Amino acid sequence: MSKTRDICITVLYQEESYALSAYEGEYRSLMALIYDHVYVSDFGECRGMGRCGTCVIQIIDHTGPLGAMDRNETATLEKMGVCSGNIRLACQIPLTRALRGLTVRILEEGEA
Ligand code: FES
Repeated sequence: MSKTRDICITVLYQEESYALSAYEGEYRSLMALIYDHVYVSDFGECRGMGRCGTCVIQIIDHTGPLGAMDRNETATLEKMGVCSGNIRLACQIPLTRALRGLTVRILEEGEA
């Protein structure tokens, strides 16, 4: 029996908009989903350790909980000078049904 890809996410990057979908558990994190479908140079360099800061996204539209920030995420964003709550590391956001309808924008170096 096939699983339904019922987690639909819109990813904005540069001038493009990508409609991505997955089922819960298909990817470990939002970073892994994006990495697999959108080519972004150097995106996700530490493969989800929360240390490189190359998977920074801005939450554009979302109503549900995304999960709390852990110590690595907070420290990495602080090092980058980010203090806005709508800027997150995509690798630290688990890909669950709570993300349905999420819209994010991939930030490039210097945008965060
Ligand atoms: S992949 Fe390195 S901080 Fe997210």
